[in-house]
Amino acid sequence: MAFFPDRRMRRLRKNETIRRMVRETHLRVDDMILPLFVTYGKDVNNPIPSMPGHSQMSVDKVLLKNVEEAVKLGIPAVILFGIPETKDPGATQAYNSKAPVQRAVKLLKKEFGDDLWVITDVCMCEYTDHGHCGLVQDGRVLNDETLEVLAKEAISHAKEGADMVAPSDMMDGRVGFIRQELDDAGFEDVSIMAYSAKYCSAFYGPFREAAESAPAFGDRRSYQMDPANAREAMKELTLDEEEAADILMVKPALPYLDVIHAAAQEFDLPIAAYQVSGEFAMIEAAAQNGWIDRTKVMMETLISIKRAGADLILTYFAKDAARLLK
Ligand code: PBG
Repeated sequence: MAFFPDRRMRRLRKNETIRRMVRETHLRVDDMILPLFVTYGKDVNNPIPSMPGHSQMSVDKVLLKNVEEAVKLGIPAVILFGIPETKDPGATQAYNSKAPVQRAVKLLKKEFGDDLWVITDVCMCEYTDHGHCGLVQDGRVLNDETLEVLAKEAISHAKEGADMVAPSDMMDGRVGFIRQELDDAGFEDVSIMAYSAKYCSAFYGPFREAAESAPAFGDRRSYQMDPANAREAMKELTLDEEEAADILMVKPALPYLDVIHAAAQEFDLPIAAYQVSGEFAMIEAAAQNGWIDRTKVMMETLISIKRAGADLILTYFAKDAARLLK
């Protein structure tokens, strides 16, 4: 007689009904945050080659149409990245009230009000001519001087009605500094989602094409985290929690599921994970070659990020996932 185990795990995998009943993790449209790239000009809808389905959009009907679709799908939030008309060493367009992000915030809040949570990325790399995330002197990225610019940028977003600002620069002390400056300017209700554990990752490649923000010299290793480090991520998250961040983020997502998991275990604040441009582009490219099933791989990566412990996911798949989850 062959050996028959008492415990047969397959009993609860018999059909989709029982699988549904014992499923441990659920993706929801409410978990999704859609990243968008806004630019200057009119009627611009400039496709980003390495990010199929995404484009640089002007702040007019083009943006509205895109966001309207997202809102109809039930996506609660967008995060805005800007491509300014001009760049300079001081990133002055980062806090210009007529720059694309500021105009987009104003337009979206006017159009959608409380039905859409508008987040802005706060960083200098899209606005500096050298492409670094801070002020540069003698080839070095300055920390404390950069904080002033970041705070000005955050306040300029808040003035247009941003619900939440998301500093992605990785300067030390920026969450606390931005919090204090926002409060002093009367924006104590504007929340902060901190890119807390942001790694120096090659997975940002397509984004830098999209945002035209690749550094002109060197790399970001003197401010973004070493991919080899996980305990250091706990320290970054702790600091941002202490500096009163409202949401903590880990970025990228899939190569750092261990960090997402540890963050979710350790902290009581909501944890966001950013499935970045390179993660998206890899899946798109393989799918275009017919090497993988796009939809299945997309959903598998998203559920993995959720299972690891993320409450919220920033993803370029937000609309596609939302369509399936409806
Ligand atoms: C800005 C910023 C980057 C991303 C988000 N904010 C690029 C970078 O740090 O080089 C990457 C997002 C993505 O790849 O999708 N600092």
